[in-house]
Amino acid sequence: MIVSEVAAADTEAVLRFWVNCGFLESENDEPGRDLQSAMEADDATVLLGRIADEICATVMVDLEGRVGMVHYLGVDPSRRKQGLGRQMMDAAEHWVQDRGGRILQLLVDADNLGALRFYEQLGLFRAPVITMAKRLDGRT
Ligand SMILES: CC(C)(COP(=O)(O)OP(=O)(O)OC[C@H]1O[C@@H](n2cnc3c(N)ncnc32)[C@H](O)[C@@H]1OP(=O)(O)O)[C@@H](O)C(=O)NCCC(=O)NCCS
Repeated sequence: MIVSEVAAADTEAVLRFWVNCGFLESENDEPGRDLQSAMEADDATVLLGRIADEICATVMVDLEGRVGMVHYLGVDPSRRKQGLGRQMMDAAEHWVQDRGGRILQLLVDADNLGALRFYEQLGLFRAPVITMAKRLDGRT
């Protein structure tokens, strides 16, 4: 797999890929807008993994001070458990380290047990943090 940074011409393919990975519009994510923001920012990027010119994995990273936040890590469903997710996390880690980042962080849905096992397999630990939230759209 060859990993490189996203380019403007990749936009549609990346959004299609994210739908395939199950990253749909939700309360927290707006994939089209998130992609655009990452492409415009100096301290964020989306890394694409390709095999035979086809996108087969992605990860978005943005650096907030010394903290590299990881989003949209996804591997093509037909290519999972072949080491590609690990390769993408390595690439994200290097991207953050090269820019002075000291720690990688990410949020995982508590019921995404496969992803939790994957991250723990890679040596990430469960940080003792509680996420607090306030709704701003009037819903309860
Ligand atoms: C999570 C995800 C990125 C893992 O990618 P992957 O390419 O299958 O992972 P790898 O093959 O690199 O696996 C690395 C290690 O994690 C383990 N692992 C991967 N998925 C696992 C799972 N579902 N359950 C248990 N272990 C898992 C592998 O067995 C491997 O262990 P090893 O090093 O001992 O062989 C992929 O399953 C995915 O795209 N999931 C849907 C999107 C998602 O949930 N993303 C995370 C959002 S927070």
